[in-house]
Amino acid sequence: MSTEIILKGKVLSFLRSPFDEGAPQDAVQVSEAVAIRDGVIAGTGSLQDMQTLLPMAQLVDHGDKLIMAGFVDAHVHYPQTAIIASWGKRLIDWLNAYTFPEEMRFGDRAYADQVANRYLDLTAANGTTTVCSFCTIHPESVDALFSAAQARGQRIVAGKTCMDRNAPDGLRDTPQTAYDDSEALIARWHGVDRLDYAITPRFSPTSTPDQLEAMGALWAKNPDCLMQTHLSEQVDEIEWVKSLFPQARDYLDTYEEFGLLGARGLYGHAIHLEERERHRLREYGAALVHCPTSNTFIGSGLFDMNGLMAEGQRIGLATDTGGGSSFSMLRTMAAAYEVGQLRGTPLHASQLLWLATQGSAAALRLEDKIGNVATGMEADLVVLDLESTPAISQRTAQANDLWEAVFATIMMGDDRAVAEVWIGGKPV
Ligand code: GUN
Ligand code: ZN
Repeated sequence: MSTEIILKGKVLSFLRSPFDEGAPQDAVQVSEAVAIRDGVIAGTGSLQDMQTLLPMAQLVDHGDKLIMAGFVDAHVHYPQTAIIASWGKRLIDWLNAYTFPEEMRFGDRAYADQVANRYLDLTAANGTTTVCSFCTIHPESVDALFSAAQARGQRIVAGKTCMDRNAPDGLRDTPQTAYDDSEALIARWHGVDRLDYAITPRFSPTSTPDQLEAMGALWAKNPDCLMQTHLSEQVDEIEWVKSLFPQARDYLDTYEEFGLLGARGLYGHAIHLEERERHRLREYGAALVHCPTSNTFIGSGLFDMNGLMAEGQRIGLATDTGGGSSFSMLRTMAAAYEVGQLRGTPLHASQLLWLATQGSAAALRLEDKIGNVATGMEADLVVLDLESTPAISQRTAQANDLWEAVFATIMMGDDRAVAEVWIGGKPV
């Protein structure tokens, strides 16, 4: 017996990227209903057409609510859940003062399980259905997150964070253990159910050239894995990288030299890029991940969304929990809008929604599976109430079109706007 469901509401689908030529709002189609069979979208269209398609389906009527793809958060550190919103430091001091002491605790599987489940509860409450997470150096921290996601039927990407220098005792591996532990985790988790592995050197300051070389060799051996790291987040960090790798042409070169630049590579932040780096990233079709609440919170800088999009880069959006100050992709879209304003290039609401769904899914090379409401895609959905608070509804009452209404929820909405979340065709 198959499970058949029809959701009725304002169903939002992307026909193309709203960053492409043409009016951004024309990239979107709004339908009356979406039909779901066994966790997969069977069609979108009028309620009548969907009922003809699936005559036995159960109907769930969401009234005027917006039904769209669940949010995809393309760069997070789930082990930093409990230290989110830690005051007053910039990147390197923030890592040493807050992050590393907390990450030290994840060798304890029971603690890792507890935080992993809390993290997936918090993100689901905010409408996020897929994350791509750094773990800690401990394989237990990876097992904890994958086990929690597997039990929820959730599609996630994660990997063991590798560091063999410039990190405290107890939080360093070696080139060999990083390779062996990561390889064992790939064998255990990559491609199991909805789980994918990302080879995860934290960033070049915390890896020796030997470790970067080992990570490059592991990626070459497992080319269908993703690879995630950090790139050019803060000016001080870039100076540090230059002093650690005096031969390198630029920050990206410290990855490129060791085989860590590729189409399935994800480079978090990518704020202060040089021309050669932009050129190489585009040439490879690598993904840049914009983390706006983190970039303002840690004081890193303003991502060049418009310039990078115009030159054809692949770009996703992310919270960067807990350098980022929120678990919410609505808040993250609002911050991306604000960063755009500070650069004089405001993003349209459809562009913000696209970044938080299709854009991030494409960064993870999962755009044929998640991030849009279209036939054949997996049914990971969020139902948004566009009148979730008095402040939002009084603004929405004056909205002239859907986009004005949606924008009020992007800027002011929180988990109260998330009416329902569906993961793999099942309500959470
Ligand atoms: N660079 C290296 N590690 C981290 C991290 O955990 N968070 C952020 N924001 N930047 C990093
Ligand atoms: Zn990060």
